[in-house]
Formats: sequence, C-alpha cells, structure tokens
Amino acid sequence: MIKLNDFSSIFIANWKLNGNIEFIKQYYQKLIPSNKNCVVICSPSIFLSHLNPNNSNLFSGAQDVSTFNNGAYTGEVSASMLNDNKINFCIVGHSERRQYFKENNETVKLKSINLIKNKIIPIICVGETLNEKEKNITKEVLYNQINNSIPDLANSENTIIAYEPIWAIGSGLTPSLEDIDEVHSYIKNIDKRFNNFKLLYGGSVKAENSAEINKLQNVDGCLVGGASLKVDEFNRIIS
Ligand code: PGA
Repeated sequence: MIKLNDFSSIFIANWKLNGNIEFIKQYYQKLIPSNKNCVVICSPSIFLSHLNPNNSNLFSGAQDVSTFNNGAYTGEVSASMLNDNKINFCIVGHSERRQYFKENNETVKLKSINLIKNKIIPIICVGETLNEKEKNITKEVLYNQINNSIPDLANSENTIIAYEPIWAIGSGLTPSLEDIDEVHSYIKNIDKRFNNFKLLYGGSVKAENSAEINKLQNVDGCLVGGASLKVDEFNRIIS
C-alpha cells in the first residue's frame, strides 16, 4: 500500500461522470505531477485502464466500488477487480452517491472494508447539507457519519477522510478558512484514533483558493471536482 505519510499533501481529482479517451490523452500530456505531493486521478471506471500508469507521485483512483466481492450483481465492479487493474485509491460515500444512489453509512463501511482488504485506500467522504448547517448540527452529523462509516480496521495508513460540505460542492461557495480548520480539528479529535488520519477538504476548491486552504494546520490536501477537469488549473492546485 502507498505510504501516505511520505507526502506533504494529497490532491484527488474527481472527474465524476466526465471525460473521454481523447480528453485523457490530452490531460496527461499537460499534467505536471508535483514531486512532493500525492496526486490521484479518479476517472469513471470504464476509463481506469486508460489512465497513465502509477508512478511514485501520481496514482489512479476509482469513484465507487461494489459492496460485494463477486457473484450475480450485474453492473458492479469489485475491490479485487480494481486491485487487479492497479488502482490504489477509491472515493466512497461521496454525497452524490449518498443522495442519488441511496448509499448510506453502512454501505460506505462495507465498501471501505473490501477496499482495505484489497490494499486500496478508501477516501471516505463526509459532510453536512445546507439545512443541517443552518440548524447548527454540522458536528452531530459529522460525528454520526464518521463513527458509522469508518470501519474498525481503518487507520491513518490505509484510509483517507474527506470533509466536503454538501452546500459547497459545485456551488462556488466555501466555508471560511476558520470554519474549515475548526471542522477539521473537530473531526480529527472525534476519537484519538483519527488524530493522524489524512483529512482532505473538498467543495469548490480552485487554483485561487487551494493554497490558503491547504496551508491550514488541519488540512492535508484537497478533493477537487470541477476544477480538476481543467488540467492547467489542476496543475496550479497541485504545484
Ligand atoms: P467541486 O466538487 O470541486 O466541483 O465542488 C468536489 C467534489 O464533489 O468532490
């Protein structure tokens, strides 16, 4: 498994349901991996074998995985299949999957267990809705998600957590820097076993705000959606 502690920061590109083979070719021609940070490109699963081979700083990741390992589950992709294709990371529990595909803490936990057992690092996403933020229950929501979706076998070397306030995803809005740092500190202190977990921020990260977000004490990198589709902008984010 990749040694997460070898990197000063981790940047994940979440392409979501975007891209094609020509886009991928051009993307890698222009991508400038950084030599101190870990960069992971998460494409739709059909394109995973078209991504550039892993090197010491640049890796491939999936956006989802089955809760099942094999069998009669039409359309699914298992963790062992990802491993067979040299995939080292996988996003799980993204809010879009929780919202549109009925994923819940229990399935996120199962998927994470399958991934860890197959030496793939799950990037477990948590975050509150705008309604929950306005009701001032962000911390309760996160406490519940963290405690119920992170399996016991997860540790700071085999699992990453991503805090993505749902209201910040794709909206151009971000929490204040103080709020990001406070929430990250809260998450890392929910239990002492989370103290050393790599904790990424996601939600409207762009070249113009990534440096200041990433400088925060409790932020270990970023999960980038829309801005990761523009390779020049993503190069600025990861540099
Ligand atoms: P965004 O998406 O950067 O476009 O806000 C982030 C994400 O959904 O992971």
